[in-house]
Amino acid sequence: MSRIMARAEQRMARNRQRYQHLLHEYGARPVTEGALTVEHLLRGNRGVPAALTDTSFVHPGQGLQFLGTTSCQEMVKLATLPEQVFWYILLDTLPTDDELRDFQEDLRSRATVPDYAWAVLEALPVEMHPMSQLQVVTNALEGESQFRPRYQAGMPRQEHWRWMLEDGLDLLARLHQVAAAIYRRRFLNAMPLAPDLTLDWTAQFVQMLGIDDSNGLLTAYMRQYVITHADHEAANASANTAAIINSTMATMASTLVGTFAALSGPLHGMANQDALGFLEGVLKHFGRLPTLPEAESYLENFIAAGGILSGFGHAQLRDLDARFVVLTDFLDRTPEIARRHEVIACMRLFAEIGPGVLKKFPKIANPHPNIDFGSGAVLYGLGMTQRTFFTVLFCISRMWGVIAQAVRARAELRPIIRPLSYTLDMVEAAAVQGPETLRPYFTV
Ligand code: MLT
Repeated sequence: MSRIMARAEQRMARNRQRYQHLLHEYGARPVTEGALTVEHLLRGNRGVPAALTDTSFVHPGQGLQFLGTTSCQEMVKLATLPEQVFWYILLDTLPTDDELRDFQEDLRSRATVPDYAWAVLEALPVEMHPMSQLQVVTNALEGESQFRPRYQAGMPRQEHWRWMLEDGLDLLARLHQVAAAIYRRRFLNAMPLAPDLTLDWTAQFVQMLGIDDSNGLLTAYMRQYVITHADHEAANASANTAAIINSTMATMASTLVGTFAALSGPLHGMANQDALGFLEGVLKHFGRLPTLPEAESYLENFIAAGGILSGFGHAQLRDLDARFVVLTDFLDRTPEIARRHEVIACMRLFAEIGPGVLKKFPKIANPHPNIDFGSGAVLYGLGMTQRTFFTVLFCISRMWGVIAQAVRARAELRPIIRPLSYTLDMVEAAAVQGPETLRPYFTV
């Protein structure tokens, strides 16, 4: 048994005990003060505590905190590899050097992508959006599930987490290969490159893209990119979708297909693609980097005309995204990247003036940039100029967090996620006559 499995064996048993204790001893205790309002229901349950998150928490002011304690800024100092962060959010501790080596070896042993998955990719139109290609091939990899046949054969519930983890590790070992192959096929008209298994996961990915990275900057940025995008608690659209799908005992591959589908929306993972589009539009409009006053008036007119500035604001954050701070710290340490393309200077200019301009529009709750505003510009500066590929990078990053969350949820024997829903008539009756009109429909 590889060490990640052995460590998970102990940890998951402990987690399950804690979860069951809370449920049985304190199940009836309230966790919210305010009642659910009509506005909550009508506006996408914004602000309603509706998901359990173990792997990370997003503090409205301080942003992403791994395990609810380790800030994003601290995390990138403690860990340089996604493998370490995965171990951390799965097992609540960083791996020792030995454990890390063992885990990397485990991933390498799973690296074979079955031929039929490559055949599925080859059958797709080359021009198909890279996100759609990724979803189709991930769905095909469902055929490799070790969870499904065991579930059908009646394995005990206590075993579910183990096979979710096995499937998750297989997918971690393979989907970066699929992503790199999509990149080469779609943008370079080239065959996939086999992974160099002497490298770590991210270095393999960059090597398989075939982009020149002789100075190692793309690899360094990608390692940080994967870490900062891996997890953002459990209520964002992709993680929440994943939690629901996985709670039905669908396989990990199906869970990831749903995760990726949620990320493909421009209000979620595709915002990074659109943010770069905005910056390119600015540079085209001025034919150069605008001055500060030019940028301010351009943005003001853009918002006043109903434009949506992708990569600004956030459903949960009320301050500058900690992940954006990590990104700009990286840029400060590597000034050579900014010199490569003025899109980076343009991004930093709008990040600086954006909050002041957006504050003039009272409806905007958070006028600060989030990670999506900057991540694409840095990729562009590093030679990855094909913006329709950016969300694929988000997907192969978010999968680390989604897999850790699903394994933990199954280890705790959590049930299917199934909240209540009411018709608009029922909500209207409750609003006008009082919430007791809904009482006959309460099922808990
Ligand atoms: C994310 O990383 O999932 C995004 O910032 C969206 C969110 O947290 O709601």
